[in-house]
Amino acid sequence: MARKLAAGNWKMNGAAASLAEIEALAKAHPDPTCDVLICPPATLLSRLSDRASGTAIQSGGQDCHAAVSGAHTGDISAQMIADAGGSHVIVGHSERRADHGETDADIVAKAQAVWGADLVAVICVGETLAEREAGQTINIVAAQLAGSIPDGATGDTTVIAYEPVWAIGTGKVPTLEEIAEVHADIRARLTARFGPAGADMLILYGGSVKPSNADEIFGVPDVDGALVGGASLKAEDFGGIIAALERA
Ligand code: PGA
Repeated sequence: MARKLAAGNWKMNGAAASLAEIEALAKAHPDPTCDVLICPPATLLSRLSDRASGTAIQSGGQDCHAAVSGAHTGDISAQMIADAGGSHVIVGHSERRADHGETDADIVAKAQAVWGADLVAVICVGETLAEREAGQTINIVAAQLAGSIPDGATGDTTVIAYEPVWAIGTGKVPTLEEIAEVHADIRARLTARFGPAGADMLILYGGSVKPSNADEIFGVPDVDGALVGGASLKAEDFGGIIAALERA
């Protein structure tokens, strides 16, 4: 299996001044034993990649279009993210699914586009609060996995992020038992579908991960890292999460 991954998703946050956080992070973690990824807004990607070059920090996109190029005003392609120095692209984040009506089929097409640019797709799944309260978590996540991951996925091309929608940006986190149940089910489904490649795929947990809860979350079986929003914006907070993943 690949090294564990601490992935930061800056969402629609950050300007040129935020690049100082990259320098602080690189200084505090010059040689981490896990992989470290920051996905800034597209406007910062190329500058961030330049600042991170020669450090252990990788950079990536938060979304991409399924096509390589063309008349798609406002969109960017996976090739453009690669050209800007990115190594990964998040696809199917619940905010994209909710705000832009992205379907599982859209996410398959985007993940294939990411692979086409020789980048790694970070494919997100997760249930809403209503779905959890209705006892549908496992079914919903299973359907999203089946529908959002293209055939042929491997641990080299694909990372899965389990992010309960109700835990994102809310400070609410599932119990460790709840995280364990979903991650074990995801692992079983990945292995059933992709064989040894499914056993190799990283499964990240995302949703209100902070330095103060990272150790216990990283102690859950089949949690191979985190996708972090709010706590990835400051080097000190994200550094605390990296340190926890190194201890795990
Ligand atoms: P959060 O966001 O860490 O701010 O909850 C996680 C995510 O959406 O990836």
